Amino acid sequence: MKTAIPDRIQGAILPGDSTAELKEFELSKPSHGEVLIRVKASTICGSDIRCIYHEHLGKGPEGYQGVIAGHEPAGIIESTGPGCRRFKKGDRVVVYHISGCGVCNDCRRGYMISCTNETYRRAYGWQRDGGMAPYMIAEEKDLLALPDELSYLDGAQVACGFGTVYEGLEKIGICGNDAVLITGLGPVGLATAMLAKALGAQKIIGTDALEPRLKIAKDLGLCDHVLKAGPDNVSEIRALTGGHGVERAIDCSAHPAARKTAIQATRKWGRIVLIGEGNSLSFDPSPDMIHDQKTLFGSWVTSTWKMEELLERLVRWGIHPADLVTHRFSLDRVSQAYELMSSGNCGKVAVCFDEELA
Ligand SMILES: NC(=O)c1ccc[n+]([C@@H]2O[C@H](COP(=O)([O-])OP(=O)(O)OC[C@H]3O[C@@H](n4cnc5c(N)ncnc54)[C@H](O)[C@@H]3O)[C@@H](O)[C@H]2O)c1
Ligand SMILES: [Zn+2]
Ligand SMILES: [Zn+2]
Repeated sequence: MKTAIPDRIQGAILPGDSTAELKEFELSKPSHGEVLIRVKASTICGSDIRCIYHEHLGKGPEGYQGVIAGHEPAGIIESTGPGCRRFKKGDRVVVYHISGCGVCNDCRRGYMISCTNETYRRAYGWQRDGGMAPYMIAEEKDLLALPDELSYLDGAQVACGFGTVYEGLEKIGICGNDAVLITGLGPVGLATAMLAKALGAQKIIGTDALEPRLKIAKDLGLCDHVLKAGPDNVSEIRALTGGHGVERAIDCSAHPAARKTAIQATRKWGRIVLIGEGNSLSFDPSPDMIHDQKTLFGSWVTSTWKMEELLERLVRWGIHPADLVTHRFSLDRVSQAYELMSSGNCGKVAVCFDEELA
């Protein structure tokens, strides 16, 4: 089906008052090293809700500049600007969601998330137009090839959430020896459970404050045990692990109490990674970390090369991130999509186009 590319498009913006609005934008042509993507799926991340949706909290790399929202897009290339070297019209792609300068030390390592160039570092959906629109312009260097075996909705989730989780799990290392604790079972926590299982974890324990999130984790078979968040979580988790605690813990909640649970419910020599962002954390270093020889990691998004590796692994493992999507909306219902994601009464929420909406 051939459709003419419009000059103007509707894109969703987040004014910062717990609404999402459609606004008309001019659609420019891809310039040097850029491509025009027909967006097929664009998922909502908890960071959008935390930093942009309710109010514009973010500063620096999290500062929102009134652009088209959505930093988890996947689609098909409609046209390429001059100078593109790898991708071409018709290629299915995922957009790594931060466009870095490409030449600072962090960019050269593939971690454009940490690009140090304040002029050129722009995140899609924050400082340059993102995926909540039928088309978007992206730089070729920010693209990853989406394997045929994965849907656009699978790909969209890799752009931030699954990529982030994969990085965090690689840092702490997960295998069949490990009991794994996940505090916070939002889309990022659910993705953690899915990947931890694929990496061989046999006992996965999840906690959340919201019943619907516990139910999704259980119903999808992603967690072996789910616990309502509370002051007894550490002893409950020890009871499930022979009194020792888990070998690995991942905080995906950003809640101070849950972070402390993640640390205290980890056994001697164990490893903990913090993924949930914002808030604070207080713990007693000697009993909670030092005397038990534990290691605490922080992890921010991932690199382009690791994201590419993850796309390959997802195919090898035969797992589909789209299984975590509980609700799909068309763009004209984008305000309901953000409202639902902010309620927490859902798994992953997506805005979809064309065949992904079916
Ligand atoms: N580090 C990174 O690079 C990175 C990347 C993407 C997202 N994030 C962050 O990851 C976090 C999760 O993202 P998401 O999309 O799943 O968001 P989300 O808000 O949907 O999920 C957070 C979950 O934590 C739960 N929670 C709250 N208090 C809890 C407690 N005391 N114990 C256990 N669970 C509790 C909430 O009920 C919710 O289900 C957010 O903070 C987001 O900003 C970080
Ligand atoms: Zn994100
Ligand atoms: Zn850079």
